Amino acid sequence: MSIDHLRSHWGFTRTPFTRELAPSMLFQSKGHAEAVARISWLVSERALGIVTGEVGSGKSVAARVAVSGLDTSRHSVVYLANPAVGTRGMYAEIVSALGGVPRYQKAALIAQAASLLAQQEDELGRRVLVVFDEAHLLEATQLEEIRLLLAADMDSRAAFGCLLLGQPTLRRRIRLGTHAALNQRIALRYSIEGMDAEETTGYIAHHLKLAGRSDTIFSSDAVSLVHQVSRGLPRAVNNLATQALVAAYTKGKSTVDESSARMAAAEMDGE
Ligand SMILES: Nc1ncnc2c1ncn2[C@@H]1O[C@H](COP(=O)(O)OP(=O)(O)O)[C@@H](O)[C@H]1O
Ligand SMILES: [Mg+2]
Repeated sequence: MSIDHLRSHWGFTRTPFTRELAPSMLFQSKGHAEAVARISWLVSERALGIVTGEVGSGKSVAARVAVSGLDTSRHSVVYLANPAVGTRGMYAEIVSALGGVPRYQKAALIAQAASLLAQQEDELGRRVLVVFDEAHLLEATQLEEIRLLLAADMDSRAAFGCLLLGQPTLRRRIRLGTHAALNQRIALRYSIEGMDAEETTGYIAHHLKLAGRSDTIFSSDAVSLVHQVSRGLPRAVNNLATQALVAAYTKGKSTVDESSARMAAAEMDGE
């Protein structure tokens, strides 16, 4: 079975439930829209915010959309995809993203990062957003260094907006006594929840429509099952819906019924 077979069986003009969608093509669930709005607010306030959610809940996508809405002549975005670079790596990435050549010595590197961050707004009139994705993986020392960087400005305000994206454990970690100072600085806390049943229904229909099918392909039983198993988390919905399309196709069916969705769920369970 190839993607081409699947496409022609269902009459899709493009493969549905794929990962990369242009911001304008995303589904506007409540959680998604709220997260995007709040992240945009964070940039304008130069505040520290934390957005949490389970794996595949749409955190990175929401940040990408919020960033894509920024005027590029007036904003600089530093996106750190992976915290597993140590504290030195963290500063080096910030410096490189802002066009500097990271200094070797750590104290010099820290000063360099702080000054480049301040310079963006003071001299270039550009607002900065630093995004730490997978922030639940940040080490305690990294969290402390982020706090110091935020406090580096003489101004009571930070020189930049800072967004921590992570799994729900991040919230608990930051609430621990050791991070009290960082915790107090947090101006935005938002948790992206799974979509509700109605949204999952709309989400599936949305993806199918983008693929050229606006009629009903999934039975309502199948949609309910996908919702239940995925708990409304977009990535899990994508995977289940795709496997359900495959299962129905291999049985020669022209709709995805409950038994196809059940086969998909069982397969994914076994992974
Ligand atoms: N609003 C949305 N509309 C369409 N697809 C979405 C939306 N939000 C998330 N997705 C899908 O779910 C996947 C997981 O989202 P992602 O932001 O990577 O999750 P997280 O960062 O929380 O682990 C994305 O690759 C995308 O395919
Ligand atoms: Mg992510």
